[in-house]
Amino acid sequence: MCAKSINTAPRTPSPMTDLSTTVAGMGFPNPVMLASGILDETGASMARVIREGAGGVVTKSIGLEPRLGHPNPTVVEVQGGLLNAMGLPNPGMAAYADEIREAKREGEKRGTPVIASIFGANPEDFAILARMAKDAGADGIELNLSCPHAKGLGLEMGQDPLMVRDIMKAAKASSALPIFPKLSPHVNDLEGMAQAAEDGGADGIVVINTLRGMAIDVEARSPVLGNMTGGLSGLAIKPVGLRVVYELYQHTELPIIGVGGIGSGRDALEYIMAGASLVQVGTAILYRGPGACGMVAKELEVELERLGYANVEEAVGAAHEGAGDCGRRIDGERGQ
Ligand SMILES: Cc1cc2nc3c(=O)[nH]c(=O)nc-3n(C[C@H](O)[C@H](O)[C@H](O)COP(=O)(O)O)c2cc1C
Repeated sequence: MCAKSINTAPRTPSPMTDLSTTVAGMGFPNPVMLASGILDETGASMARVIREGAGGVVTKSIGLEPRLGHPNPTVVEVQGGLLNAMGLPNPGMAAYADEIREAKREGEKRGTPVIASIFGANPEDFAILARMAKDAGADGIELNLSCPHAKGLGLEMGQDPLMVRDIMKAAKASSALPIFPKLSPHVNDLEGMAQAAEDGGADGIVVINTLRGMAIDVEARSPVLGNMTGGLSGLAIKPVGLRVVYELYQHTELPIIGVGGIGSGRDALEYIMAGASLVQVGTAILYRGPGACGMVAKELEVELERLGYANVEEAVGAAHEGAGDCGRRIDGERGQ
């Protein structure tokens, strides 16, 4: 069964495309957001990203207590992207709240939402953090249930559907804000996980976080990262992210926020056609700079106009149109 109706692509170029969009009751000036963990340590850096045209910003993931993170090296460049094992370093929500307030001041000037990313060890932590983020002025909450390199946090919780549901419920009950769990590609039953998020009251789902990987230094005969393994991000993971968004779109009515390897308007459009209503940009900030989200948004506008879409919503899920019954291959095979 197909969960969503399929959009029909317009045939002629559109004279003007409206990039503004509404997801889970939140208005976005454009659908290209800053992903969690990049250029979002301070309110000032998030304000800059907003000024340079991002459609929204997500804070770095914040917990209850200050946390140092993993020993260096924590980031290494690899072919096609980055490997990081930051280990969720952060000053704790009580100290970080001022950064949210500062980003929010800039966001309010431009109608750009600020979403707080939070992590915890149990549903109670998430409930407290969601309330604190709301009090600091966050417009929405992203639940980090997918960090692949922090023991007892992130991915370990995001692989258990009952835990996902309970965390969702707890966060929702303590703040009336839209809440978006961020899931990992390292999940066997994506459909079950989406259902658990929906049962807990999720307003949308963010996919994907980084993929577990490692790099080896042959001279030192050892892993490069201080934590040995880390999370792979950047262009190399785009096909994985697209596949996850595409499959999720077939199984949930919830809006999907796509992230993973997006560095151009064409990349963003691929995610939107796979089923994403919003997208996020992370690693590409490193080579396109703080204006990367704004640049991707402008390029996306050109692509949408060229293909005749009057707005973003018309293009959401468009790739399911030409793929046979509900996006499945006609012969029922998913390929190798
Ligand atoms: C250095 C770095 C730090 C990150 N920190 C976080 C984080 O704190 N919370 C989180 O949910 N994701 C974090 N991520 C994952 C990104 O938000 C994103 O899901 C992932 O990098 C894939 O997107 P990209 O290919 O555009 O970077 C981090 C990624 C990188 C590269």
